[in-house]
Amino acid sequence: MTAAATRRPGTPAGRPGRFETLRLDGVSRSFGGHEALADLDLTIRRGEFIALLGPSGCGKSTALNCLAGLLPLTRGSIWQDEARLDVLPPERRGFGMVFQNYALFPHLSVRRNIAFGLQMRKVPRAELRRRVDEALRLVHLQEQAGKLPGQLSGGQQQRVAIARAVVLEPSLVLMDEPLSNLDAKLRLEMRTEIRRLHQSLGLTTVYVTHDQEEALSLADRLVVLRAGRVQQIGPPEQLHAEPANWHVADFMGYRNLLPLTAGPRRGAGIVVEIEGHELVGTPVGDPAPGSAVMAAVRPEDLIIGPGLPATVEVVEYQGREVAVEARTAGGIALSLLSADRPAVGDRIAVTVEPRRLLVFPS
Ligand SMILES: Nc1ncnc2c1ncn2[C@@H]1O[C@H](COP(=O)(O)OP(=O)(O)OP(=O)(O)O)[C@@H](O)[C@H]1O
Ligand SMILES: [Mg+2]
Repeated sequence: MTAAATRRPGTPAGRPGRFETLRLDGVSRSFGGHEALADLDLTIRRGEFIALLGPSGCGKSTALNCLAGLLPLTRGSIWQDEARLDVLPPERRGFGMVFQNYALFPHLSVRRNIAFGLQMRKVPRAELRRRVDEALRLVHLQEQAGKLPGQLSGGQQQRVAIARAVVLEPSLVLMDEPLSNLDAKLRLEMRTEIRRLHQSLGLTTVYVTHDQEEALSLADRLVVLRAGRVQQIGPPEQLHAEPANWHVADFMGYRNLLPLTAGPRRGAGIVVEIEGHELVGTPVGDPAPGSAVMAAVRPEDLIIGPGLPATVEVVEYQGREVAVEARTAGGIALSLLSADRPAVGDRIAVTVEPRRLLVFPS
C-alpha cells in the first residue's frame, strides 16, 4: 500500500497486472435475442477515471461485468496492452470490484473483511497488517476496525467495501453504483472520497452511474450509453457543452426537449418555429429544412423576456433562484430558473440565446 500511495500516474508500471492501456474492441453481450451491449469500443489509459453513464437498462452493469469477467462476451475482445484478457477468469484479471450492496462478510470485523483477500493470497502476516492499517487509514476507519459491518452506518460500510477492493492494489477498480444506497449528504462526501483515493493511489477506475452530476464531477471521461449502444465518449466539459445527440443532451441537463420542425438556416443558426413564434438555435449535425428536430435548452438558459408566451403552473423555491414550470398555449411544458418569483397563473414570455438552443435531428 505504501508503494501504491506514493506512486504517481505516469511512473512505470511496476507490478504484475499493471497496464498502460486496456482496450475494449467491439465488446457485445446478448441475453437470448436481446443485445444488452453492442459494439463497445473504448481504450482506457492507466490512471484514468471513466464513468459509464445512462438510464436504467442501458447496459452499464453488463459492460462492467464483461470487463470483470463475470459475464462472457458474445462478440468482441478485451486487451490489456498486447495480451488478450477476455479469455481469463475473473480472479486472473486482478481487478477490484465495489458493488451497490456492499457485500461484506457480516460475521467478520471491519479489519478482517479488509484482510480477507490478502489472506487468500497468502500475503505474509507483517505485510498484511501494514497494508490493512494503511487501507483503514485511507478510508478513515481506524476507529471502527474492530466493529462488525452491522454496527456501521451505510457510508462506513461502503468505505469498508472500497478499502477491501483497494487493499489488493488492483490494476483496475470497477464500481457499480457504489453510492446509490446512501443519503444525499453522504453521497457527496463519498464522491469526494472516491476521487481522492483514485488520485492518491494512482488507480484506474471504471465507475457505473445513472447520476449525471456524479459522472461529471468524478470522471476524466464519460461514456454515455443508451439501449446498449455508445452515444458519446468524451471529457465532462465536452459532453456538457457539445452533446452529440438529443439523448446525450437529455442526460446533460437539457430538460426542455421540444419536438419541432426545422426551418431555414440563418447565418450559422437555424430557425425553428414554435406555436407561431420564431426562435433561432444552433444546429447539431445537419437537420434538413422541413425535417423533424428536437430543440434542447437547459432550464437555466431559458430566460423570461419577449418571446414565446406561457402560463406559470408551478413555482418551486430553490434557495438562490426559483424553478418555474410553465406551459405554452399549445400545451408544451417548459422548465426554467428565475431570479424573480412569478405567481402561479402569471402570463410570462420566454426566450433563449441562439447558442443555448441546440437543434438536433430527431
Ligand atoms: N442475466 C440477464 N438475463 C437477461 N437479461 C439481462 C440480464 N442482465 C441484464 N439483462 C438485460 O440487459 C439490459 C441491460 O442490463 P444492465 O443490467 O446492464 O443495465 P444497467 O444499465 O446496469 O441498468 P440499471 O441502471 O438499472 O442497473 C437490460 O435490458 C436487462 O434487462
Ligand atoms: Mg446496473
